[in-house]
Amino acid sequence: MKLLHITCSPRAQESHSARLAQAIVERLCAVHPAMQVQLRDLAAEPLPHVDGAYADALAGKAPVGTAAGALVRSDTLIAELVQADAIVLGTPMHNFTVPSALKSWIDHVLRIHRTFAPTPEGHKRGLLRNRPVYIAVAAGGMFLGERARQPDFLTPYLRAVFNTMGLHDLHFFVLQATVRGPEALAAAWDDALRQVARLAAPQPAPLELQD
Ligand SMILES: Cc1cc2nc3c(=O)[nH]c(=O)nc-3n(C[C@H](O)[C@H](O)[C@H](O)COP(=O)(O)O)c2cc1C
Repeated sequence: MKLLHITCSPRAQESHSARLAQAIVERLCAVHPAMQVQLRDLAAEPLPHVDGAYADALAGKAPVGTAAGALVRSDTLIAELVQADAIVLGTPMHNFTVPSALKSWIDHVLRIHRTFAPTPEGHKRGLLRNRPVYIAVAAGGMFLGERARQPDFLTPYLRAVFNTMGLHDLHFFVLQATVRGPEALAAAWDDALRQVARLAAPQPAPLELQD
């Protein structure tokens, strides 16, 4: 079973979201024998923004599949997704949503005719086989629950992104209030690690579907 592990915090070893994602990876490796993990570190190796040729190709102005620039990178990143049986993503909240490093990855993989297709009614239909996605989120303040005092454009956005590609089996693990002092941080970690400890082995998706 293949696991794609994506991380994007600029804080490297200090990152809460990266450490929580790592705990999820370790748990999944413990409960699933012979897990192969591929790491895509979007902070250590940032992706360039998509370029004009890519935008033109997606708008149908050049043949999609032309081997150039961002299209090649996009093909590589989509292949990583296609090959993965499960995905673990660690992300901080930056300005109420995902960091720009992760947004750039999304621009490369959420691609018309490759990971989604338009329907005659104007909807987007996912082209990827469903598979579990485990998402570790770290935020300095509160964005979920009664004590939230800021908007959350992160979890609904990631839900829309993955659902659009056909990935509906999403599991969020949230560390809130990471900058609200050691007690709040310790409580958030306890809660998140309890959730991680309950994780069962991911179920492989049926083979007859897309990809
Ligand atoms: C550029 C930037 C923007 C941030 N925006 C928010 C925000 O909108 N809401 C919030 O709760 N915390 C925000 N934070 C705080 C981070 O979410 C918090 O430090 C979190 O622990 C970062 O995750 P990491 O430890 O995985 O890097 C921001 C931090 C940075 C650097």
